Amino acid sequence: MAGILDRRKFLHLSALSAPILVSPKSIANAYNIPVVPIVISTWDAGMEVNAEAWKILSANGKSIDAIEAGARQIEDTINCCVGLGGNPDRDGIVTLDACIMDEHSNCGAVAGLERIKHPISVARKVMETTPHVLLVGNGAQQFAIENGFPMEPAKLSDSAEKAYKDWLSNTKYEPVINVENKKNNGPSAPNFFPDGTPNHDTMGLLAMDSKGNLSGGVTTSGMAFKLHGRVGDSAIIGAGLFVDNEVGAATSSGVGEEVIRISGTHLVVEFMRQGNSPKLACKKAVERIVKRDRQKAKTLQVGFLAMNKKGEYGAYAIQKGFVFSVKSNHENRIHDAEYVFG
Ligand code: GLY
Repeated sequence: MAGILDRRKFLHLSALSAPILVSPKSIANAYNIPVVPIVISTWDAGMEVNAEAWKILSANGKSIDAIEAGARQIEDTINCCVGLGGNPDRDGIVTLDACIMDEHSNCGAVAGLERIKHPISVARKVMETTPHVLLVGNGAQQFAIENGFPMEPAKLSDSAEKAYKDWLSNTKYEPVINVENKKNNGPSAPNFFPDGTPNHDTMGLLAMDSKGNLSGGVTTSGMAFKLHGRVGDSAIIGAGLFVDNEVGAATSSGVGEEVIRISGTHLVVEFMRQGNSPKLACKKAVERIVKRDRQKAKTLQVGFLAMNKKGEYGAYAIQKGFVFSVKSNHENRIHDAEYVFG
């Protein structure tokens, strides 16, 4: 791909731009040069995820490898919403959803996967070694074991066990609008919401490597206390994740049912194809959900995050509080998403 702003060109442009105080990023934009490599991910826990992905991207590695490495980082931590330490369904069982997609539209996914630590890697195995896209439940677990993924003990993390016991005392299914990883509790601390109520936030990440190729991945334990067997958007290509290497990529976090109803991330990518910026594309998808049922939308959160082929990114959410993390040669920081209801 011609005209990519890699590290060497970035340093060269930095040197050129220094005397006239113009940022290399604005030069890149002016010349339509993509900013690569870059990785973006949902929530502030994305900072650690991005750091892991960056090790690969900054060594000129492939975006698909960066995505898998980043997702594995958070799957290795104990937190409410991703991996085996996450909150269980209403039967007390942790079931994991994940999907992955590369620049060739290859994709793989698992849903309702139990007792396997790295659903993102199983999803990649599905993508690379089977003619299928999505494996679910026992079949997904059997596939994982046959491919050498160890079966982990069927034990809840301490935080998930406490959350589940608390939930059993009233058994209300009422998703909390935002789950942010409060920095004062550490980046992936368990149960980080103001009232201590467990809920979820999904980890979705998108990367463009130094060759300008896009990939994405999503991993989650899904909505806390969901019905056993419920599958969210994070296992569904076009809902929780979509990548089109000619246009851009998008991912989502929040109430998966709302995202599935509008094929959310596919819609975001199509809006970008029509010439909208990543942020405007996300906004239009959010507005599609809100328009369907404004009163209901006031009670729930969905956030979309997107990146185009120039390395421009943006996000939009139904509610205030959705944040995302960005790592490139220009920045390493958390951004607030704009929203409909403040
Ligand atoms: N967005 C993840 C889920 O609804 O499970």
